[in-house]
Amino acid sequence: MCGIFGIVSKRDKLLGPTLIDAGLRLSYRGYDSVGIATINENGIIDLRKDAGKVTTVAERFNFKEMIGKRGILQLRWATFGEPSMVNSQPHLDSEGLMVGAHNGNVVNNAELREEFIAEGMIVRSTNDGESCVHAVERFIRQGFSMIDAIRKAYDVLKGDYAFVIGKADDDRLYAFKKGSGLVAGIGDEFTVVSSDLPSILPLTRNIVFMNDGEIIELSDQCFTIYSVSTGEVIDRSAEIVEETMEVAQKGGFDHFMLKEIHEQPKVAEELLHLWNNSPSIDVTVEALKNARNIYFVGCGTSFNACVAGAVYFNRLSAKTTIPIAAPQFIAQYNRAIGPEDVGIFVSQSGETKDVLNAVEIARKQGMRIFSLVNVVGSTLTKLSEKWLPLVCGYEISVPATKTFTNQLVAFLYLAYKVAAKDINELNQLPDHMLKTIEEAENQVREILTYVQDWNDLYCLGYGITYPIALEGALKLKEITYAHCEGMLSTEFKHGPLAAVTKDYPIIFSTIREDIPLIISGINEVTCRGARAIVIGPKDERLESNAHHTIRIAEPTPEFASILTIIPLQLLSYYMSVHRGFDPDFPRNLSKTLTVD
Ligand code: M6R
Repeated sequence: MCGIFGIVSKRDKLLGPTLIDAGLRLSYRGYDSVGIATINENGIIDLRKDAGKVTTVAERFNFKEMIGKRGILQLRWATFGEPSMVNSQPHLDSEGLMVGAHNGNVVNNAELREEFIAEGMIVRSTNDGESCVHAVERFIRQGFSMIDAIRKAYDVLKGDYAFVIGKADDDRLYAFKKGSGLVAGIGDEFTVVSSDLPSILPLTRNIVFMNDGEIIELSDQCFTIYSVSTGEVIDRSAEIVEETMEVAQKGGFDHFMLKEIHEQPKVAEELLHLWNNSPSIDVTVEALKNARNIYFVGCGTSFNACVAGAVYFNRLSAKTTIPIAAPQFIAQYNRAIGPEDVGIFVSQSGETKDVLNAVEIARKQGMRIFSLVNVVGSTLTKLSEKWLPLVCGYEISVPATKTFTNQLVAFLYLAYKVAAKDINELNQLPDHMLKTIEEAENQVREILTYVQDWNDLYCLGYGITYPIALEGALKLKEITYAHCEGMLSTEFKHGPLAAVTKDYPIIFSTIREDIPLIISGINEVTCRGARAIVIGPKDERLESNAHHTIRIAEPTPEFASILTIIPLQLLSYYMSVHRGFDPDFPRNLSKTLTVD
């Protein structure tokens, strides 16, 4: 994710405290490293940065004394390059005449680094933020103006990111965005630019919202916006923003959970961009192809993703994989595993003790350790032969949402690769997710009244929707405190059927090929008084057998399985709010479980 902030003032002044304050507000976007560069009226750049959180690094490098006319701050959520001083941002160009920082991901970073080195530039890190600076440097060296150099760099740098840069011998900052958020603010004798609105609101409410394909040039009291494609000036005025800070932090949503549900299409797109250009993928895929046994290991939501991963691998590549909850992995397989086996360990945090215990045993037995992790630099990344980032940015809400869907996208991606299927097909998925979120909202609200006051319910799925039922039930119990069991639909008749009373809510999930089987399940419960709600494709058979249907597009069965979790996330969310709970911080739970 990462966060950037830039400020231009009228003359040299103490900028450190303002930049630290912005850093604290942006710290939810990354805490792997932090850095500040100030540029004074004489063009002298003072750059201080290191791995660590904003409070500790600021203290160590005395950020609060930093003076300048311009300042740039960056907080890093590491993706390219380990968290370290050299990979920390901002970065200098070869001669130390420009300084810049980005958030997001430049997916062709590896190729660009090689090109910049071949062109004789001094490349100090493996971080993609540095590539942004050198991309501008390349065109400044060729004699282009700052605006034209940035326009050309925009085309060179692939991915989703926002970038801010300053040049020692002028008195402005320049920023642009491609896929990531960027807002600017105009104050009294200063201008600012940032990844988000809440970091600007304490300074000014006079705001300019940026679009992709636009460059903003900031001087101490005004701004000019240029079109990247034509170079022409775009006429736009600042607008007064009235939002409170809390509303702004949640991006206008009532809770982080809802915001994170809505972020799912975007982070899926970012994962696909990034992975398409990642050298770690090939190593992982080769290991999977050649493995004797493959284990997918995780806990909670991450375990549910492992179950989905196993179904994807079977359907697409006919490969057997074993999904297993981390503690049970030890009990069931600790003596059987060896160097011929591959484990994909899955964890949002990368710090879950149950998962790390399993990794420890696996390492002792010589098994090859790979991982899918959201928090780069976490313990799990360090213990892995290769780790693949989930690219979700910071997930604040305790219930996992966007990290779950990106775990599914990640497994699907690997299954496609192992099966040598055309990976470009996956590029359609984010749009389907977006549409599903839009369409599910009303459908979920319609069925809410039949579910929200029950303290006991079931989520049933079959085959590819079985893990979705598990995850839907986990979401429901986690934030509504109702008891909700996720189960294979065919197992329901083997005991749980006894729980059914009049109007007892049972939520089925299905894809088209499983409709006949699900219809049997529906009738087994409705004839005993249950209320059947089905999430599945538009189909007359479902409409006529269930009480309520939530329609999901089915571009492919695998896509449909990912889309199916969205209404369940929304249902859990609205039910939790209806009950007066805070879905972001459910009682008794913590985001990261570092205990046995
Ligand atoms: O960080 P991890 O993915 O390893 O966490 C595992 C579980 O604790 C986590 O998925 C938990 O189940 C979620 N909060 C559920 O929403």
